[in-house]
Amino acid sequence: MVAKLVLPKDAAVVGLEDRLARIDTAELSDDWYRRAVTVLRGGDGGEHGKLLYKLALAVLPAQPNAITLDVGTARGFSALVMARAMQDAKVIGTVYTVDTVGHSESVNWHIEKHSQDDPLVGLSISRREIWDRWYRDGSSAVVVAKGRSVELLSSWKHGPIGVAFLDGSHSYEDVRQELALLDGLMVETGVILLDDYHLGEVVGRIRSRALNLLAWLIGQATGWVSKRLWAFAPKLGQATEYRLVKQRFCGVKRAVDEFMESGDGCWSMEAVAMPRRGTYQGEDYCTVILSRGRIKGGAN
Ligand SMILES: C[S@@+](CC[C@H](N)C(=O)[O-])C[C@H]1O[C@@H](n2cnc3c(N)ncnc32)[C@H](O)[C@@H]1O
Repeated sequence: MVAKLVLPKDAAVVGLEDRLARIDTAELSDDWYRRAVTVLRGGDGGEHGKLLYKLALAVLPAQPNAITLDVGTARGFSALVMARAMQDAKVIGTVYTVDTVGHSESVNWHIEKHSQDDPLVGLSISRREIWDRWYRDGSSAVVVAKGRSVELLSSWKHGPIGVAFLDGSHSYEDVRQELALLDGLMVETGVILLDDYHLGEVVGRIRSRALNLLAWLIGQATGWVSKRLWAFAPKLGQATEYRLVKQRFCGVKRAVDEFMESGDGCWSMEAVAMPRRGTYQGEDYCTVILSRGRIKGGAN
C-alpha cells in the first residue's frame, strides 16, 4: 500500500514489481539472490537488491569505467549486488563501499528480527571473513573503506559515479550532505537510490535520546517477558519502539524532499514501495530513485 505517502511535487510512486518490469535487463539469478539475502541480510528483506541490480545493469554499461558507490556496507549485500551486476553485464568497474565498521572488525551481525536460518546466528565475525568464506569470487571489484560517508565524498577522487546507494546513518544531516556532494559527482545519467524513505508516524517530533532509550528498553523487556509468559508482549514492545525509534529514519525523507525542492528540476524522483518489510519497520517504508538522465525503461 502506498496511499499514505506524501511525496514532493511531481514525484511518482510505483510498486517494486512494476518498476522492475520497466527496466529491460536480465534478472538476478534466484539462487544467488536467495543465498545473498540469507548470508548477507540474515534473511531480512533485501528487496532493494533486485532494484539496485537492475538499475546498475541499465546504467553502468554506458560508462567506460563504471563506478558505483555504496554507503553503509554492513555485511556487504548492496555492494556485492552491484558487483554482481557488473560481472553479469561484463562491465569493467569498481564498487566503492564505505562503513564506519571496518572490514576486519568482528561483529555480531545477527539481531533478533533476522531469521533463525541466518548462518551467522551467535557468531562474532568480520565482513572480511564472511566474504572470504562465501564471496571470494564476487568481491574482487569491491573496494571497502572504513569511515563516514561524508568524509569519503568530500575528498572523492575516483571519477564520476554511475549508481549510488545511500543506506548509511539515515540521519538528516548525513543524507543532506551526501546528496549535496553527489550532485556534483554523478555521471549525466546517474541514479541515486535511498532506502528507508518514509513518512514516519512519530509521536509529535520527539528527538529525545532518553525517550528512544526508554522505547528500546520497553522493547527489550517485553521481548524477555514474552519468551516466558505472554505472547502479546512483543507486540507492545515493537509498537513502542516503532513509534519512537523509527523516527530516526525521518531524516531520509526530510533530506530527499529538501534536495528535490531546492534543485533546478534536473533530478526526478520515484518512490518504489517495497512489498515486504519486517514487522518492526512497518509498511510505510519505500526506496527512492533519484535520476537525472533517462534510464532504459524508466518513466522519468
Ligand atoms: C542499514 S545498514 C546497510 C545495509 C546494506 N546496505 C545492505 O544492503 O544490506 C547501515 C550501515 O551503515 C553504516 N553507517 C552508519 N553511519 C554511517 C556513515 N555516516 N557512513 C558510512 N556508513 C555508516 C552502519 O555501520 C551500518 O553497517
